[in-house]
Amino acid sequence: MVAVTAGLPEERPQHVPADLNALEPAIWPRTSGRADGAVTIGGIDVRDLAKEFGTPLYVIDEEDFRSRCREYRSAFHDGEVHYAAKAFLCREVARWIDQEGLGLDVCSAGELAVALSVGFPPERITMHGNNKSLAELERAVQVGVGHIVVDSYEEIARLGFLADKHGVRPKVMIRVTVGVEAHTHEFIATAHDDQKFGLSLSSGAAAEAVRRILALPQLELVGLHSHIGSQITDTGGFEVAARRLARLLVEIKEEHDVVLPELDLGGGYGIPYVVGDESLDVKVIADSLREIVTKVCESAGLPVPRLTVEPGRSIAGVSGVTLYEAGTVKDVEGLRTYVSVDGGMSDNIRTALYGAEYTAVLASRVSQAAPMLSRLVGKHCESGDMVVRDLYLPGDLAPGDLIAVAGTGAYCRSLANNYNYLPKPAVVAVSNGQARVIIRRETEDDLLRGQL
Ligand code: LLP
Repeated sequence: MVAVTAGLPEERPQHVPADLNALEPAIWPRTSGRADGAVTIGGIDVRDLAKEFGTPLYVIDEEDFRSRCREYRSAFHDGEVHYAAKAFLCREVARWIDQEGLGLDVCSAGELAVALSVGFPPERITMHGNNKSLAELERAVQVGVGHIVVDSYEEIARLGFLADKHGVRPKVMIRVTVGVEAHTHEFIATAHDDQKFGLSLSSGAAAEAVRRILALPQLELVGLHSHIGSQITDTGGFEVAARRLARLLVEIKEEHDVVLPELDLGGGYGIPYVVGDESLDVKVIADSLREIVTKVCESAGLPVPRLTVEPGRSIAGVSGVTLYEAGTVKDVEGLRTYVSVDGGMSDNIRTALYGAEYTAVLASRVSQAAPMLSRLVGKHCESGDMVVRDLYLPGDLAPGDLIAVAGTGAYCRSLANNYNYLPKPAVVAVSNGQARVIIRRETEDDLLRGQL
Protein backbone atom coordinates (compact mmCIF):
# COMPACT_ATOMS: atom_id res chain seq x y z
CA MET A 1 0.00 0.00 0.00
CA VAL A 2 2.79 2.37 0.91
CA ALA A 3 4.53 1.76 -2.39
CA VAL A 4 1.31 2.41 -4.25
CA THR A 5 0.65 5.76 -2.60
CA ALA A 6 4.22 7.06 -2.94
CA GLY A 7 4.26 9.93 -5.40
CA LEU A 8 0.54 10.63 -5.15
CA PRO A 9 -0.38 14.08 -6.40
CA GLU A 10 -1.36 15.20 -2.87
CA GLU A 11 2.22 14.66 -1.77
CA ARG A 12 3.56 16.82 -4.55
CA PRO A 13 1.52 19.99 -4.47
CA GLN A 14 1.42 21.36 -7.95
CA HIS A 15 1.42 24.84 -9.30
CA VAL A 16 -1.49 24.85 -11.74
CA PRO A 17 -0.69 27.22 -14.61
CA ALA A 18 -3.25 29.99 -15.03
CA ASP A 19 -3.16 29.50 -18.80
CA LEU A 20 -2.03 26.17 -20.20
CA ASN A 21 -1.55 27.71 -23.62
CA ALA A 22 0.81 30.47 -22.49
CA LEU A 23 4.48 30.47 -23.43
CA GLU A 24 6.48 32.05 -20.62
CA PRO A 25 8.99 34.31 -22.44
CA ALA A 26 12.02 33.42 -20.29
CA ILE A 27 11.50 29.70 -20.86
CA TRP A 28 10.64 29.59 -24.58
CA PRO A 29 12.86 30.65 -27.51
CA ARG A 30 12.85 34.35 -28.23
CA THR A 31 11.08 34.08 -31.58
CA SER A 32 8.39 31.70 -30.36
CA GLY A 33 4.72 32.51 -30.17
CA ARG A 34 1.37 31.15 -31.24
CA ALA A 35 -0.36 31.68 -34.58
CA ASP A 36 -3.64 30.09 -35.52
CA GLY A 37 -3.43 28.30 -32.17
CA ALA A 38 -0.19 26.47 -32.92
CA VAL A 39 3.23 27.23 -31.49
CA THR A 40 5.55 28.92 -33.97
CA ILE A 41 9.32 29.20 -33.72
CA GLY A 42 11.42 31.28 -36.08
CA GLY A 43 8.21 32.14 -37.87
CA ILE A 44 7.33 28.51 -38.60
CA ASP A 45 4.31 26.58 -37.41
CA VAL A 46 5.37 23.48 -35.49
CA ARG A 47 2.73 21.48 -37.38
CA ASP A 48 4.62 22.23 -40.59
CA LEU A 49 7.91 21.26 -38.94
CA ALA A 50 6.45 17.96 -37.76
CA LYS A 51 4.96 17.29 -41.18
CA GLU A 52 8.17 18.01 -43.04
CA PHE A 53 10.79 16.58 -40.68
CA GLY A 54 8.89 14.13 -38.47
CA THR A 55 8.98 13.75 -34.70
CA PRO A 56 10.64 13.68 -32.28
CA LEU A 57 12.43 16.75 -33.55
CA TYR A 58 14.92 19.09 -31.96
CA VAL A 59 14.16 22.64 -33.13
CA ILE A 60 16.78 25.34 -32.64
CA ASP A 61 15.87 29.00 -32.84
CA GLU A 62 18.94 30.35 -34.58
CA GLU A 63 18.17 33.96 -33.74
CA ASP A 64 17.76 33.10 -30.06
CA PHE A 65 21.08 31.23 -30.04
CA ARG A 66 22.96 33.98 -31.85
CA SER A 67 21.45 36.76 -29.77
CA ARG A 68 22.69 35.09 -26.59
CA CYS A 69 26.17 34.84 -28.11
CA ARG A 70 26.05 38.58 -28.78
CA GLU A 71 24.87 39.36 -25.26
CA TYR A 72 27.81 37.46 -23.80
CA ARG A 73 30.19 39.16 -26.21
CA SER A 74 28.98 42.59 -25.23
CA ALA A 75 28.87 41.85 -21.48
CA PHE A 76 32.45 40.52 -21.60
CA HIS A 77 33.61 43.05 -24.23
CA ASP A 78 37.03 43.29 -22.58
CA GLY A 79 37.43 39.52 -22.22
CA GLU A 80 36.72 36.31 -24.07
CA VAL A 81 33.64 34.15 -24.34
CA HIS A 82 34.18 30.51 -25.20
CA TYR A 83 31.07 28.50 -25.94
CA ALA A 84 31.18 25.10 -24.20
CA ALA A 85 30.76 22.62 -27.04
CA LYS A 86 29.48 19.87 -24.76
CA ALA A 87 26.16 21.67 -24.38
CA PHE A 88 25.42 21.13 -28.07
CA LEU A 89 27.81 21.08 -30.96
CA CYS A 90 27.45 20.23 -34.61
CA ARG A 91 29.14 21.66 -37.67
CA GLU A 92 26.53 24.36 -38.17
CA VAL A 93 26.67 25.47 -34.53
CA ALA A 94 30.46 25.68 -34.80
CA ARG A 95 29.97 28.02 -37.78
CA TRP A 96 27.54 30.21 -35.78
CA ILE A 97 30.01 30.40 -32.89
CA ASP A 98 32.78 31.38 -35.29
CA GLN A 99 30.64 33.99 -37.05
CA GLU A 100 29.59 35.50 -33.72
CA GLY A 101 33.25 35.86 -32.77
CA LEU A 102 33.22 33.51 -29.78
CA GLY A 103 35.85 30.95 -28.91
CA LEU A 104 35.08 27.29 -28.35
CA ASP A 105 35.77 24.88 -25.52
CA VAL A 106 36.21 21.27 -26.41
CA CYS A 107 36.90 18.31 -24.15
CA SER A 108 37.61 15.48 -26.57
CA ALA A 109 39.25 14.81 -29.92
CA GLY A 110 35.75 14.34 -31.33
CA GLU A 111 34.55 17.80 -30.35
CA LEU A 112 37.82 19.20 -31.67
CA ALA A 113 37.32 17.38 -34.97
CA VAL A 114 33.83 18.83 -35.44
CA ALA A 115 35.19 22.35 -34.93
CA LEU A 116 38.19 21.86 -37.19
CA SER A 117 36.02 20.31 -39.91
CA VAL A 118 34.39 23.69 -40.55
CA GLY A 119 37.63 25.61 -40.31
CA PHE A 120 37.09 26.93 -36.80
CA PRO A 121 40.27 28.87 -35.95
CA PRO A 122 42.29 26.61 -33.61
CA GLU A 123 43.75 29.55 -31.75
CA ARG A 124 40.23 30.32 -30.44
CA ILE A 125 39.80 26.78 -29.11
CA THR A 126 40.50 25.66 -25.53
CA MET A 127 41.06 21.98 -24.81
CA HIS A 128 39.67 20.62 -21.53
CA GLY A 129 39.31 17.23 -19.91
CA ASN A 130 40.35 15.40 -16.76
CA ASN A 131 41.80 12.48 -18.71
CA LYS A 132 42.93 13.67 -22.10
CA SER A 133 44.70 10.87 -23.90
CA LEU A 134 48.18 11.35 -25.26
CA ALA A 135 46.66 11.24 -28.75
CA GLU A 136 44.18 13.98 -27.85
CA LEU A 137 46.88 16.15 -26.39
CA GLU A 138 49.07 15.56 -29.40
CA ARG A 139 46.28 16.54 -31.79
CA ALA A 140 45.66 19.70 -29.76
CA VAL A 141 49.36 20.58 -29.79
CA GLN A 142 49.75 19.81 -33.49
CA VAL A 143 46.78 21.86 -34.68
CA GLY A 144 47.78 24.69 -32.36
CA VAL A 145 44.76 25.10 -30.09
CA GLY A 146 44.86 28.39 -28.23
CA HIS A 147 44.84 26.97 -24.72
CA ILE A 148 45.13 23.61 -23.03
CA VAL A 149 43.72 23.42 -19.53
CA VAL A 150 45.89 21.12 -17.45
CA ASP A 151 43.99 18.89 -15.07
CA SER A 152 46.67 16.67 -13.51
CA TYR A 153 50.41 16.36 -12.88
CA GLU A 154 50.64 13.55 -15.46
CA GLU A 155 49.36 15.90 -18.10
CA ILE A 156 52.07 18.44 -17.37
CA ALA A 157 54.71 15.82 -18.08
CA ARG A 158 52.91 14.63 -21.22
CA LEU A 159 52.58 18.15 -22.54
CA GLY A 160 56.22 18.88 -21.86
CA PHE A 161 57.14 15.80 -23.89
CA LEU A 162 54.79 16.72 -26.75
CA ALA A 163 55.96 20.32 -26.86
CA ASP A 164 59.55 19.10 -27.24
CA LYS A 165 58.57 16.56 -29.85
CA HIS A 166 56.75 19.09 -32.02
CA GLY A 167 58.95 22.06 -31.31
CA VAL A 168 56.08 24.23 -30.08
CA ARG A 169 55.32 26.08 -26.86
CA PRO A 170 51.64 25.52 -26.02
CA LYS A 171 49.76 27.97 -23.84
CA VAL A 172 48.44 26.20 -20.76
CA MET A 173 46.18 27.04 -17.86
CA ILE A 174 45.69 25.13 -14.63
CA ARG A 175 42.26 23.89 -13.64
CA VAL A 176 41.97 24.85 -10.01
CA THR A 177 39.49 23.22 -7.66
CA VAL A 178 38.51 26.23 -5.61
CA GLY A 179 36.51 24.46 -2.90
CA VAL A 180 33.11 25.97 -3.61
CA GLU A 181 30.03 23.89 -2.80
CA ALA A 182 27.85 24.84 -5.75
CA HIS A 183 24.11 24.55 -5.20
CA THR A 184 23.26 22.20 -8.00
CA HIS A 185 22.83 18.48 -8.63
CA GLU A 186 25.73 16.42 -7.25
CA PHE A 187 26.57 15.06 -10.71
CA ILE A 188 27.19 18.53 -12.13
CA ALA A 189 28.96 20.22 -9.20
CA THR A 190 32.69 20.37 -9.82
CA ALA A 191 34.52 22.66 -7.42
CA HIS A 192 34.35 20.83 -4.09
CA ASP A 193 37.45 18.80 -3.30
CA ASP A 194 35.94 15.31 -3.43
CA GLN A 195 35.52 14.93 -7.20
CA LYS A 196 37.65 14.14 -10.20
CA PHE A 197 38.31 17.54 -11.75
CA GLY A 198 41.17 19.93 -11.26
CA LEU A 199 43.96 20.50 -8.78
CA SER A 200 42.99 21.50 -5.30
CA LEU A 201 43.64 24.99 -4.05
CA SER A 202 43.39 24.05 -0.39
CA SER A 203 45.71 21.04 -0.53
CA GLY A 204 48.40 22.99 -2.38
CA ALA A 205 48.13 20.80 -5.49
CA ALA A 206 47.35 23.82 -7.67
CA ALA A 207 50.41 25.69 -6.37
CA GLU A 208 52.51 22.59 -7.00
CA ALA A 209 51.20 22.42 -10.58
CA VAL A 210 52.30 26.03 -11.05
CA ARG A 211 55.84 25.11 -9.90
CA ARG A 212 56.00 22.12 -12.21
CA ILE A 213 54.82 24.03 -15.25
CA LEU A 214 57.10 26.98 -14.61
CA ALA A 215 59.96 24.50 -14.42
CA LEU A 216 59.25 23.47 -18.02
CA PRO A 217 60.30 26.27 -20.38
CA GLN A 218 58.60 24.51 -23.28
CA LEU A 219 55.18 25.27 -21.73
CA GLU A 220 53.76 28.79 -21.45
CA LEU A 221 51.67 29.12 -18.31
CA VAL A 222 49.18 31.90 -19.09
CA GLY A 223 46.58 31.58 -16.38
CA LEU A 224 44.21 29.77 -14.06
CA HIS A 225 40.89 28.14 -14.73
CA SER A 226 37.90 27.26 -12.58
CA HIS A 227 34.51 25.76 -13.34
CA ILE A 228 32.37 25.28 -10.27
CA GLY A 229 29.47 23.35 -11.75
CA SER A 230 26.47 23.68 -13.99
CA GLN A 231 22.92 25.04 -13.80
CA ILE A 232 23.89 27.39 -11.00
CA THR A 233 21.63 30.34 -10.31
CA ASP A 234 23.15 31.52 -7.03
CA THR A 235 25.90 33.79 -8.35
CA GLY A 236 27.70 33.85 -4.99
CA GLY A 237 29.64 30.71 -5.95
CA PHE A 238 31.07 32.32 -9.10
CA GLU A 239 32.17 35.31 -7.07
CA VAL A 240 33.90 33.22 -4.42
CA ALA A 241 35.68 31.28 -7.18
CA ALA A 242 36.78 34.50 -8.92
CA ARG A 243 38.13 35.91 -5.65
CA ARG A 244 40.04 32.72 -4.83
CA LEU A 245 41.58 32.49 -8.28
CA ALA A 246 42.59 36.16 -8.17
CA ARG A 247 44.26 35.57 -4.80
CA LEU A 248 46.17 32.63 -6.23
CA LEU A 249 47.42 34.94 -8.98
CA VAL A 250 48.74 37.21 -6.24
CA GLU A 251 50.45 34.29 -4.48
CA ILE A 252 52.03 33.15 -7.73
CA LYS A 253 53.46 36.65 -8.22
CA GLU A 254 54.84 36.58 -4.68
CA GLU A 255 56.38 33.11 -4.96
CA HIS A 256 57.68 33.17 -8.54
CA ASP A 257 57.61 36.83 -9.54
CA VAL A 258 55.46 35.77 -12.48
CA VAL A 259 52.34 37.63 -13.54
CA LEU A 260 49.79 35.39 -15.24
CA PRO A 261 47.71 37.40 -17.70
CA GLU A 262 44.52 35.31 -17.88
CA LEU A 263 41.72 33.97 -15.68
CA ASP A 264 39.13 31.58 -17.06
CA LEU A 265 36.08 31.40 -14.82
CA GLY A 266 34.32 28.57 -16.64
CA GLY A 267 30.61 28.26 -17.31
CA GLY A 268 27.68 27.02 -15.28
CA TYR A 269 25.20 29.89 -15.53
CA GLY A 270 21.74 28.50 -14.93
CA ILE A 271 18.67 28.97 -17.10
CA PRO A 272 14.97 28.91 -16.25
CA TYR A 273 13.28 25.60 -17.04
CA VAL A 274 9.99 26.07 -15.21
CA VAL A 275 7.94 29.04 -14.07
CA GLY A 276 9.55 30.55 -10.99
CA ASP A 277 13.12 29.59 -11.94
CA GLU A 278 15.55 32.46 -11.82
CA SER A 279 17.00 34.06 -14.97
CA LEU A 280 20.53 35.40 -14.67
CA ASP A 281 21.52 38.68 -16.24
CA VAL A 282 24.76 38.20 -18.16
CA LYS A 283 25.78 41.81 -17.82
CA VAL A 284 25.30 41.81 -14.05
CA ILE A 285 27.44 38.68 -13.79
CA ALA A 286 30.15 40.13 -16.01
CA ASP A 287 30.28 43.38 -14.06
CA SER A 288 30.46 41.66 -10.72
CA LEU A 289 33.18 39.18 -11.75
CA ARG A 290 35.22 41.98 -13.30
CA GLU A 291 34.87 44.09 -10.18
CA ILE A 292 35.97 41.31 -7.83
CA VAL A 293 39.01 40.34 -9.87
CA THR A 294 39.96 43.99 -10.38
CA LYS A 295 39.74 44.70 -6.67
CA VAL A 296 41.90 41.75 -5.59
CA CYS A 297 44.53 42.33 -8.27
CA GLU A 298 44.75 46.09 -7.95
CA SER A 299 45.10 45.97 -4.19
CA ALA A 300 48.09 43.65 -4.69
CA GLY A 301 49.56 45.87 -7.39
CA LEU A 302 48.89 43.28 -10.07
CA PRO A 303 47.60 44.09 -13.56
CA VAL A 304 44.01 42.94 -14.03
CA PRO A 305 43.99 39.66 -16.00
CA ARG A 306 41.91 39.10 -19.09
CA LEU A 307 38.73 37.25 -18.14
CA THR A 308 37.28 34.35 -20.08
CA VAL A 309 33.95 32.63 -19.46
CA GLU A 310 32.67 29.39 -20.93
CA PRO A 311 28.88 29.39 -21.09
CA GLY A 312 27.23 26.38 -22.67
CA ARG A 313 23.69 25.90 -21.40
CA SER A 314 22.97 29.64 -21.08
CA ILE A 315 23.62 30.07 -24.82
CA ALA A 316 22.10 26.89 -26.24
CA GLY A 317 19.52 25.85 -23.65
CA VAL A 318 16.53 28.08 -24.20
CA SER A 319 17.06 28.24 -27.97
CA GLY A 320 16.09 24.58 -28.33
CA VAL A 321 12.69 22.92 -28.11
CA THR A 322 11.83 19.27 -28.60
CA LEU A 323 8.72 18.46 -30.56
CA TYR A 324 6.99 15.14 -29.89
CA GLU A 325 3.79 13.53 -31.03
CA ALA A 326 1.53 12.19 -28.31
CA GLY A 327 0.87 8.49 -28.65
CA THR A 328 -1.03 6.83 -25.85
CA VAL A 329 -2.89 8.83 -23.23
CA LYS A 330 -3.48 6.62 -20.21
CA ASP A 331 -5.54 7.77 -17.26
CA VAL A 332 -4.31 5.93 -14.21
CA GLU A 333 -7.41 6.20 -12.09
CA GLY A 334 -7.12 8.59 -9.18
CA LEU A 335 -3.46 9.29 -9.80
CA ARG A 336 -2.58 11.04 -13.03
CA THR A 337 -2.63 10.73 -16.79
CA TYR A 338 0.38 9.23 -18.47
CA VAL A 339 0.96 10.87 -21.83
CA SER A 340 3.45 8.87 -23.89
CA VAL A 341 5.47 10.51 -26.62
CA ASP A 342 7.47 9.08 -29.50
CA GLY A 343 10.90 9.69 -27.89
CA GLY A 344 12.02 9.83 -24.27
CA MET A 345 15.19 9.09 -22.37
CA SER A 346 17.12 8.51 -25.59
CA ASP A 347 16.65 12.11 -26.73
CA ASN A 348 16.47 13.65 -23.24
CA ILE A 349 18.05 11.71 -20.43
CA ARG A 350 18.28 14.70 -18.10
CA THR A 351 15.03 13.99 -16.26
CA ALA A 352 16.10 10.44 -15.45
CA LEU A 353 19.71 11.37 -14.74
CA TYR A 354 19.44 14.59 -12.73
CA GLY A 355 15.76 14.82 -11.82
CA ALA A 356 15.63 17.77 -14.23
CA GLU A 357 12.40 19.71 -14.62
CA TYR A 358 10.91 20.95 -17.86
CA THR A 359 7.96 22.91 -19.15
CA ALA A 360 5.84 21.36 -21.89
CA VAL A 361 2.75 22.53 -23.72
CA LEU A 362 0.23 21.24 -26.20
CA ALA A 363 1.75 22.81 -29.30
CA SER A 364 -0.43 21.96 -32.30
CA ARG A 365 -3.52 23.81 -31.04
CA VAL A 366 -4.83 25.77 -28.10
CA SER A 367 -7.24 24.17 -25.71
CA GLN A 368 -9.60 25.54 -23.10
CA ALA A 369 -10.05 22.13 -21.45
CA ALA A 370 -9.44 21.86 -17.72
CA PRO A 371 -5.88 21.11 -16.55
CA MET A 372 -5.12 17.41 -16.23
CA LEU A 373 -2.35 16.32 -13.87
CA SER A 374 0.00 14.44 -16.15
CA ARG A 375 3.33 12.78 -16.51
CA LEU A 376 5.00 13.08 -19.88
CA VAL A 377 6.76 9.80 -20.53
CA GLY A 378 8.75 8.26 -23.34
CA LYS A 379 8.45 5.00 -25.22
CA HIS A 380 11.42 3.22 -23.66
CA CYS A 381 11.16 0.04 -21.68
CA GLU A 382 11.59 1.38 -18.20
CA SER A 383 9.44 3.37 -15.86
CA GLY A 384 12.19 5.92 -15.19
CA ASP A 385 11.77 7.03 -18.77
CA MET A 386 10.17 10.39 -18.05
CA VAL A 387 10.46 13.61 -19.98
CA VAL A 388 8.48 15.74 -17.53
CA ARG A 389 7.68 14.16 -14.21
CA ASP A 390 4.85 16.41 -13.08
CA LEU A 391 2.93 18.81 -15.26
CA TYR A 392 -0.53 19.90 -16.26
CA LEU A 393 -1.73 19.36 -19.79
CA PRO A 394 -5.18 20.16 -21.17
CA GLY A 395 -7.74 17.46 -20.33
CA ASP A 396 -8.68 16.96 -23.98
CA LEU A 397 -5.15 16.05 -25.06
CA ALA A 398 -5.36 13.23 -27.57
CA PRO A 399 -3.12 10.92 -29.57
CA GLY A 400 -1.69 12.80 -32.55
CA ASP A 401 -1.41 16.12 -30.73
CA LEU A 402 2.03 17.71 -30.82
CA ILE A 403 3.75 18.48 -27.56
CA ALA A 404 6.65 20.92 -27.28
CA VAL A 405 9.16 20.69 -24.44
CA ALA A 406 11.12 23.88 -23.74
CA GLY A 407 14.73 24.34 -22.74
CA THR A 408 16.12 21.28 -24.51
CA GLY A 409 18.80 23.06 -26.54
CA ALA A 410 21.61 22.11 -24.16
CA TYR A 411 22.65 18.64 -23.02
CA CYS A 412 19.82 16.81 -24.76
CA ARG A 413 21.12 16.11 -28.29
CA SER A 414 24.64 15.93 -26.89
CA LEU A 415 23.60 13.30 -24.32
CA ALA A 416 21.30 11.47 -26.75
CA ASN A 417 21.70 7.74 -27.09
CA ASN A 418 20.21 4.83 -28.98
CA TYR A 419 18.62 3.00 -26.07
CA ASN A 420 16.17 0.40 -27.39
CA TYR A 421 17.63 1.14 -30.84
CA LEU A 422 15.72 4.36 -31.26
CA PRO A 423 17.29 6.50 -33.97
CA LYS A 424 18.42 9.94 -32.78
CA PRO A 425 16.04 12.68 -33.93
CA ALA A 426 16.98 15.31 -36.50
CA VAL A 427 18.00 18.80 -35.46
CA VAL A 428 16.40 21.59 -37.45
CA ALA A 429 17.44 25.23 -37.29
CA VAL A 430 14.66 27.74 -37.81
CA SER A 431 15.08 31.39 -38.67
CA ASN A 432 12.94 34.00 -40.45
CA GLY A 433 10.39 31.51 -41.68
CA GLN A 434 13.02 29.09 -43.00
CA ALA A 435 13.84 25.68 -41.57
CA ARG A 436 16.85 23.57 -42.42
CA VAL A 437 18.18 20.29 -41.15
CA ILE A 438 21.54 20.74 -39.41
CA ILE A 439 21.76 17.13 -38.21
CA ARG A 440 19.70 14.61 -40.13
CA ARG A 441 17.55 12.02 -38.39
CA GLU A 442 19.24 8.67 -37.91
CA THR A 443 17.99 5.80 -40.02
CA GLU A 444 17.87 2.06 -39.50
CA ASP A 445 21.11 1.87 -41.50
CA ASP A 446 22.75 4.18 -38.98
CA LEU A 447 21.62 1.88 -36.21
CA LEU A 448 23.17 -1.14 -37.89
CA ARG A 449 26.35 0.60 -38.99
CA GLY A 450 29.52 -0.81 -37.50
CA GLN A 451 28.00 -4.16 -36.57
CA LEU A 452 29.33 -7.42 -37.97
N1 LLP B 1 33.45 24.75 -18.87
C1 LLP B 1 33.74 23.55 -18.37
C2 LLP B 1 35.12 23.25 -18.04
C3 LLP B 1 32.74 22.61 -18.16
O1 LLP B 1 33.05 21.42 -17.66
C4 LLP B 1 31.40 22.93 -18.49
C5 LLP B 1 30.33 21.95 -18.29
C6 LLP B 1 31.13 24.19 -19.04
C7 LLP B 1 32.17 25.09 -19.20
C8 LLP B 1 29.76 24.62 -19.45
O2 LLP B 1 28.85 24.62 -18.42
P1 LLP B 1 27.38 25.22 -18.65
O3 LLP B 1 27.54 26.71 -18.89
O4 LLP B 1 26.79 24.57 -19.83
O5 LLP B 1 26.66 24.92 -17.40
N2 LLP B 1 25.21 17.20 -18.57
C9 LLP B 1 24.91 18.14 -17.52
C10 LLP B 1 25.83 19.33 -17.54
C11 LLP B 1 27.29 18.95 -17.44
C12 LLP B 1 28.17 20.13 -17.54
C13 LLP B 1 29.60 19.72 -17.67
N3 LLP B 1 30.51 20.78 -17.82
C14 LLP B 1 23.45 18.55 -17.64
O6 LLP B 1 22.77 18.08 -18.54
O7 LLP B 1 22.96 19.33 -16.82
